[in-house]
Amino acid sequence: MSSLTNKRIILGVTGGIAAYKSADLVRRLREAGAEVRVVMTRAACEFVGALTFQALSGHKVHIDLLDADSEAAMSHIELARWADAVLIAPATANTLAKIAQGLANDLLATLCLATRAPLCVAPAMNHVMWMDANTRANILLLRQRGVRIFGPASGAQACGETGEGRMLEPLQLVEQMAQIFQSGALQGCNVLITAGPTLEAIDPVRFIGNRSSGKMGFALATAAIEAGAQVTLVSGPVALATPDRITRIDVESAADMQQAVMQQIPDKDIFIACAAVADYRPAQVQTQKIKKSGSALKIELVKNPDILAGVAALDSPPFCVGFAAETEHLAQHAQQKLVAKKLQMIAANDVTKQDSGFNSEYNALHVFWPGGDMQLETASKSQIARQLVLLIAQHYKERRTQKKPHEKNPAENS
Ligand code: C5P
Repeated sequence: MSSLTNKRIILGVTGGIAAYKSADLVRRLREAGAEVRVVMTRAACEFVGALTFQALSGHKVHIDLLDADSEAAMSHIELARWADAVLIAPATANTLAKIAQGLANDLLATLCLATRAPLCVAPAMNHVMWMDANTRANILLLRQRGVRIFGPASGAQACGETGEGRMLEPLQLVEQMAQIFQSGALQGCNVLITAGPTLEAIDPVRFIGNRSSGKMGFALATAAIEAGAQVTLVSGPVALATPDRITRIDVESAADMQQAVMQQIPDKDIFIACAAVADYRPAQVQTQKIKKSGSALKIELVKNPDILAGVAALDSPPFCVGFAAETEHLAQHAQQKLVAKKLQMIAANDVTKQDSGFNSEYNALHVFWPGGDMQLETASKSQIARQLVLLIAQHYKERRTQKKPHEKNPAENS
């Protein structure tokens, strides 16, 4: 599998002759498993028709910043949030200059300012323009700000001259894009993740459940795989496909989940409890369907075991990360849970916020650990998952070095 599987890439196409190669790039990115949305500058439309990109990407092409149709379908802010990465190919000297200076005078430049996703550019221009002091200064600025510069290559140019400034070939760009998702931060680590809801049976046809979609846990599993970990995912009932290279164990109730987790935990280095485990279950599961009778029905509930607290209380527990879905006093409640459950880290989210958390494509987290915290601002769940995995890797390594300085940390093998 490619690390581009299910990745959402915005391909920005600007007005250079190499734009014709970007049509092939869309195909190649999709073949590698990515979902692609194309944003074109007006100048790009002079070189290749938007219809070509629409047909190849399977989505409407975005061109204008103030386009009522496209704003209704997906606004520039939504596009910016949607992306796991933005790639501008070809990137003209003009667009590079605009991004370096933070201009926001067209859709693509605005997107670059509005997104938190990694930004990559594949410059393509005449070799004299590439070597010009202005372009050199812009490239330096972009590099310093973390923009990835792919290429350019040397060779024959469309203008008839030879030199540095050719856009990299589509397959080379696909390879470079795949690499940005691979951090290696958890190389050699065994990670166990719980995800989704649990369903607690009332009778043979009814249950108590919750609205967890499992998306955050599945995104974490993918991010951990990209970081080089071996991942086991214990999932409640969800409508999600199993990410590649992940061992998935399906469960239904909290008791099933606890059993699966306890079976899996002995060789795990990190445990991330992302599941929305039901706190209570019916005291008795009726063997026959409960018949409708009377005006009220009482069901006695008993407390479920706390899976995460159980793992953290083991003699030699893994690095434990919990989640806290809160509706008020987020920081206070999360910090209390961190201490009460003896966790190394807790990721809290405000579930009253619209467009983040349960069932949403987006999330925002406030992460706490003993003595520190960090806000992960609203972004797609896969981006948030990647940021959280890097944070976990960093703290996991610190803890390992503090605990057993003589032992080699598997996460440092890479
Ligand atoms: O105490 P609260 O339910 O808010 O804690 C949430 C965290 O604890 C989550 O990480 C969740 O996966 C975990 N949890 C658990 N078992 C339970 C309840 C919650 O592992 N029975």
